[in-house]
Amino acid sequence: MRVSLGPRRGFHFAGPVPGDKSVTHRAYLLATRASGETLIRGALRSRDTDATLAVCRALGADVRVDGQDVRLAPPTQFQEPSAPLDCENAGTLIRLATGYLAGAGLFAVLTGDDSLRARPMRRVVEPLRLLGARIEGRDQGARAPLAVLPAQLAGCTISLPLPSAQVKSAVMLAALDAAGETVLLDLMPTRDHTERMLRQFGARVDIQGDRASIVGGQQLVSPGRLDVPGDISHAAFLLASAALSERGEARVTGVGLNPGRTGILAVLRRMGARIEVSAGEDDGVIEPSGEVLVQQSDLAGVEIGPDEVPSLIDELPVIAALALCAEGVTTVHGAGELRVKETDRIAALRQMAEGVGGDFEELADGFRIRGKRNVQGGLVQSLGDHRIAMAAAVLSLRSREGVEIADAEAAAVSFPRFFDLFEAASV
Ligand code: S3P
Repeated sequence: MRVSLGPRRGFHFAGPVPGDKSVTHRAYLLATRASGETLIRGALRSRDTDATLAVCRALGADVRVDGQDVRLAPPTQFQEPSAPLDCENAGTLIRLATGYLAGAGLFAVLTGDDSLRARPMRRVVEPLRLLGARIEGRDQGARAPLAVLPAQLAGCTISLPLPSAQVKSAVMLAALDAAGETVLLDLMPTRDHTERMLRQFGARVDIQGDRASIVGGQQLVSPGRLDVPGDISHAAFLLASAALSERGEARVTGVGLNPGRTGILAVLRRMGARIEVSAGEDDGVIEPSGEVLVQQSDLAGVEIGPDEVPSLIDELPVIAALALCAEGVTTVHGAGELRVKETDRIAALRQMAEGVGGDFEELADGFRIRGKRNVQGGLVQSLGDHRIAMAAAVLSLRSREGVEIADAEAAAVSFPRFFDLFEAASV
């Protein structure tokens, strides 16, 4: 599907955005192994999260979907999946599910689409093997398909190799089935959705500085109801659109404000956007949420370094769009992880920038953009990457000739109604 977006100048949005993808994946998985039924309200319905729901069904969960409300009743015992589990495009699903199944005492094969089968899996396979997991895979476990075999896990001390919430979460989920205590060392600040949700399901996770510990054998108990906040990564495209358009305002309500995810708000502020955040309280357990208002203003380039990257890793495509329409230079360093996302996002962003006539320099671990107030416009390939498709749409608001997006259906991986919403908001 090709989408052509004309050079509209105004952008007005008010309301909520669909549910948080990271939180939805975790809610489905934890509800499937907790005792009692869980009503998950505001769940994200998208290709990625529907793949997780299919995995839960294959393990025996009874799932009833009513719009954004998902009722999930766990099986008495996991059933062994009779076919490979298709994680489609979802890196979070395959990595979390590998840990989740490592000590489940069954045989399961996890696979996905071409993009997912090219992404690195050793980062989860190696720490899980330290716990005693038996995981085989292509290239000695470096790539999917992965086969998880029945194994007895035993807690141990594991130093995390990189600042990845997916790796941390995979180990934490496996630790629930390991005998004794599992200690994670060298935790770097990353989104803590798993820790929060484990606590909501009654589990004890001790965190002290950069060390976490979990005792195995804990039974998860459903909290009955879980509320999924709006996805700040979805909101980012709307907030950025408002910030850079000639007449723009976006007020996003009920959006998740987990401190591990709000880097985009800090960057918008540094770029000169007018932004107001009203956050609800954060008790360290329930996901914090609130309202964010952004109004148009003249934007300037920014510097983003390695410390900030984990809090905005998924927002770097939309930050690139902002930078192309900001005066001056934006430099991003310490984001080598972009090379192993749904696409090599540094190369994909260069293609996006060049497609609209922008000045983009690839760096090994990031990029440098020399921005101007407007871009020429032109054709951008999504390359099957949802966030590239949506970032390209944002650029149309500052383009002289409009932007055409090839394979725009990729947006449905995380945000199926994005283009309807975007077109309704651009005036
Ligand atoms: C996610 C963690 C991040 C992020 C991804 C979702 C999660 O990946 O990019 O979109 O839900 O845990 P890494 O853990 O690889 O940094």
